[in-house]
Amino acid sequence: MSGSLIAKNLRIQREARWLVDDISLELRPGERVALIGPNGAGKSTLLRLLTGYLPAEHGELLLAGQPLSGWPAQALSRQRAVMLQHTRGLANWPVAAVVAMGRAPWGPLHEHSIVQQVLALTGCDTFANRLCGTLSGGEQQRVQLARCLAQLWNNGAPQGWLFLDEPTSALDLRHQQHLMRLLKTLTSGANLHVFTVLHDLNLAALWASRVLLMHQGKLVAEGKPEAVIQAPIINRWYGAEVLVGEHPKEGAPQVFLCS
Ligand SMILES: Nc1ncnc2c1ncn2[C@@H]1O[C@H](COP(=O)(O)OP(=O)(O)O)[C@@H](O)[C@H]1O
Ligand SMILES: [Mg+2]
Repeated sequence: MSGSLIAKNLRIQREARWLVDDISLELRPGERVALIGPNGAGKSTLLRLLTGYLPAEHGELLLAGQPLSGWPAQALSRQRAVMLQHTRGLANWPVAAVVAMGRAPWGPLHEHSIVQQVLALTGCDTFANRLCGTLSGGEQQRVQLARCLAQLWNNGAPQGWLFLDEPTSALDLRHQQHLMRLLKTLTSGANLHVFTVLHDLNLAALWASRVLLMHQGKLVAEGKPEAVIQAPIINRWYGAEVLVGEHPKEGAPQVFLCS
């Protein structure tokens, strides 16, 4: 699918507070966008709005030129997958069955090979027969990513819009690196477009083509990692004292917390 996802003046209010306050943005095909911001900034709420999981009370949302709310459910599920911060109710399901659930929008075809490929890509193949409830937090996150990739699999690779909410929060270093490399590879052909909330600013700086910074429901900074991940900006919006240096190999900004 070509075309952007365009949000215009999105707002949502809870208990007399704007959780998302007049946000407009465009997500373009092939981009790797990282959404950062302090706890409670509204990142997960914005992700839910952009994916249609939460109906926007104000504003407009267009996917490939069509209002998101007008997309037929099956067509939309083939074009955009969402990994939320918390997933419940899958404890008694085997890993392979959860990943196969991702194929539901594509009909009753037997697509064992897609499930196997995705399990291998995400390193879930070694515990494919285990029940999800027996996995560690990081392993469960990898299963959810695998389910999303299975959902978007079309003609030999995942295609469309992938939305992730803190997908690395429980991953060890090796799996953080693996996930970021995998998503870079999959987006390089411009058929997969990724929007992810990331807690880890250094990971965001290494991985993203564009960084969005949210604070109290508003987008307060946006641009290439080096334009956003700067000490005065992080100090101001996170209320934390940091230094920002350069990654010795990649050149990307890296944040050092002052003791
Ligand atoms: N249904 C709700 N009612 C009231 N407050 C909410 C509701 N959902 C989220 N919030 C609050 O909105 C703010 C933004 O939440 P969230 O989007 O989860 O933040 P983030 O993902 O940036 O940490 C938080 O302060 C949260 O407590
Ligand atoms: Mg959140």
